[in-house]
Formats: sequence, C-alpha cells, structure tokens
Amino acid sequence: MRAKLERDFDRFKRELPRDFPAHVCQAYRIDLTARYLGERVPHPIGKGSGQLSLNAGQLEDDAAAGLAFAVLKTVIAEDETGARTMAAWAIHETKMTVERRPAGGGRAGWTVTWKGRGWDRTFTDYLTLVRTGRDLTRAGRLLVVPSVKYHLPRLAEPFRDGEYRYTTAQLADAWREPPLLVEKDFSPTLAGDALADDRPQILRWLREVPARIHAASPIPVRVAVKLMNARFDDLFQVEMMDACAGADTLVVFNRLFDAERGVAYGGWDLSDRNLRVLGTQVAPGIPELTGTGNIHSGRMILDYARCGCHSVQLHTFFQLPLSEYPATHGSRPQRALHALVFHPQDGLIAGMLELEARGELERHGGELRFLDLRAHAHRAG
Ligand SMILES: Cc1cc2nc3c(=O)[nH]c(=O)nc-3n(C[C@H](O)[C@H](O)[C@H](O)COP(=O)(O)O)c2cc1C
Repeated sequence: MRAKLERDFDRFKRELPRDFPAHVCQAYRIDLTARYLGERVPHPIGKGSGQLSLNAGQLEDDAAAGLAFAVLKTVIAEDETGARTMAAWAIHETKMTVERRPAGGGRAGWTVTWKGRGWDRTFTDYLTLVRTGRDLTRAGRLLVVPSVKYHLPRLAEPFRDGEYRYTTAQLADAWREPPLLVEKDFSPTLAGDALADDRPQILRWLREVPARIHAASPIPVRVAVKLMNARFDDLFQVEMMDACAGADTLVVFNRLFDAERGVAYGGWDLSDRNLRVLGTQVAPGIPELTGTGNIHSGRMILDYARCGCHSVQLHTFFQLPLSEYPATHGSRPQRALHALVFHPQDGLIAGMLELEARGELERHGGELRFLDLRAHAHRAG
C-alpha cells in the first residue's frame, strides 16, 4: 500500500484523475463518500464561500478538478425594492494578501488578509451565477450552493421578513427544482461588529433564522448555518451550536477576528479553537457538521472528521503560492486535492491507513469508509 501510494503521489503530480475517488476505492479499498447539506458527495473536500467562487470560470475549474462541492460568495439579502439592511457588508475590495500567520508552539500557518465583505455586484448578477451553478449541479459535475447574509435584528426589533422572502424566492426561482440548498453566513466581521456584543441577541438569531428561511422559501429548502467564532469563550460556541438545532447543517466555524487590525484571520489559532470546541460539544441530535478552518492536509481533514464532521470546506489552501504544492501541473484546486488526498505522509489515504494499523478504524466489507471516522468522535462531556 505504501509503495503504491508513493507511486500514485508521484505520477499524479502531473495530472490528477478527475474521478480520483473511484481510483482510491479500487486501489486502496477506501470509500471516501461524504455528506454536505444532506447530499451524498464522492469525497469530503469542498470549497468554502469567498473570493474563489465569484464567477463561472472558477466554478468550471472546480468541476474539472473534481471538487465535491463549492459554496458561492455570500450575497447580501434584499427586499423587492432593493433595500438591504445588511448593506454595510456589500463592500468592494479586490486586494488580498496571502501571508504567514504565526501561532503558538512556533507554528506558522497561512492566512488571507482582506478588507472586503460580501458580494459587491447586483443581485441579478448573483442569480446568473446561481443558474450556472444549478446547471453544473444538474449535470452531476459539481454541487454548487449559494450563500446569503440575511437581516439580523437587535433583540427588541423584528426580523425584516421582506428581505428573507424576496431573496429566498429569487434563489428558488433560479434553482427551480427542489430542494433549494442555501448557506447562511455569520461572518467574522459580524463577530467583530457591535451587533454581536450581546449573547442573547446572537442566540435569538440562531434559534429563529433557520425557521425564517424555511418559511420564506416557496419550495423545500435545506439550510446550512455557518457559525462565527464569537468574541466569547468556548462554552458559548457550544451554546450557539445548541441554539441552532433548527438548521439542517452547521458549518463550524468561520474565521477569527483580529480587533486590533480590524481583519479576519485563520491559521493554526483557528483550527486549534475549532477542534477544541468540537471535541467538547456534547449535545446529541445536533445537525450534520461541515468543518472549516486551516485545513491544509489530509491529517487535518481527519481531525475534523473525528470531531464529527461529514465533510470540509476550504478557502486559504486553494490560494497558496504554486511553490507550496507538490504537484507540478494543474489548477490550484487540482494541486490542492493531489496533496490533500495522496501525500504519502500527511494525505487522507496515508492517515486512514495509519488509523487502521492502530486499530482505530475498521474495514467493513473489506473497505475503510470516511464516514465511519465520525463514530470515533470524541465527546469529552
Ligand atoms: C478572502 C476570504 C473571503 C471570504 N469570504 C467569505 C464569504 O463571503 N462568506 C463566507 O461564508 N465565508 C467567507 N470566507 C470564509 C471561508 O469560506 C472559510 O470558511 C474560512 O476562510 C476558513 O477556511 P480556511 O482556513 O481554509 O481559509 C472567506 C475567507 C477568505 C479568506
């Protein structure tokens, strides 16, 4: 197995087979099947919402590379008059800096520093991109999911249902066939905003928002809530997960907020915190989980999976300088998949074989299954 993995790693540096999950199944008897928002996907690696899912060209590259899913950039909700309560999040900013971010223990991860926020073009343009995503999804080439930032009121205020209704209905109309899948973003800049100073206010959003999106949609809808890293302690992260039981999926957890610099960041501090919280959360019957944050190796995917995640979504790892990937050819999504899956020390296959050797993962019907990793989720409580 080891020798085969070394060989595959070397030969796939030039070109990754599009249907690599079938190859992994046949060559290693490893079933990479995963889940995202209630859908079966051929493997666990998807693209998180952001600057890398802004146009049809990026989606086409993701489909060609064989990503499991891609979440579109977050659009700011509007009502039928075009009014947007969260308009402060529709900032235009193009400059991004990919840089090292030191963390404890002498570790230096990567982060993308960027001052922008949500989708900065028209909602009509966004709906055009949603239709492109729908066609890729229908063709079985790439599962594409829109992301929205809906109105979030202060505690004493009502929700602007008009924004929920109009935005969701337009997305449903563009998507056409049920179910509509949608992510609701609670972003790091929101976590850094005065709106998010108040715990009961945040918990009310999480309790009410999934039901409001369900009620607003003219067709059946599944809702993933992307939880923020709030500026409170780990226990509050768990409280947020519990409050959000009405969601179909939780994306855990969006980037940290550096109040001094006024920017969101990732790297090891982010994965340390996310895995720490996921390792202690205890509530039975919480929604399906999708991990995000500093995922740059197959081993890190396994860490999230062993904390209960059914799949993962990455951003920063798709943005590194080309010299950081061991592959010599291909698009960034292809090079990233090559390293994440086939790296002979840190890849997904190597990690799963190692867990088998340690007696921590068993074969069923001769196969190791990615989704079985969750059975080993450690629940400290
Ligand atoms: C430049 C940039 C823009 C992002 N924009 C969004 C966004 O609009 N909506 C959202 O839900 N997440 C957004 N994210 C968060 C990513 O989807 C991802 O969850 C997060 O960066 C953690 O994963 P990573 O460590 O692999 O980057 C953004 C991230 C970056 C780096």
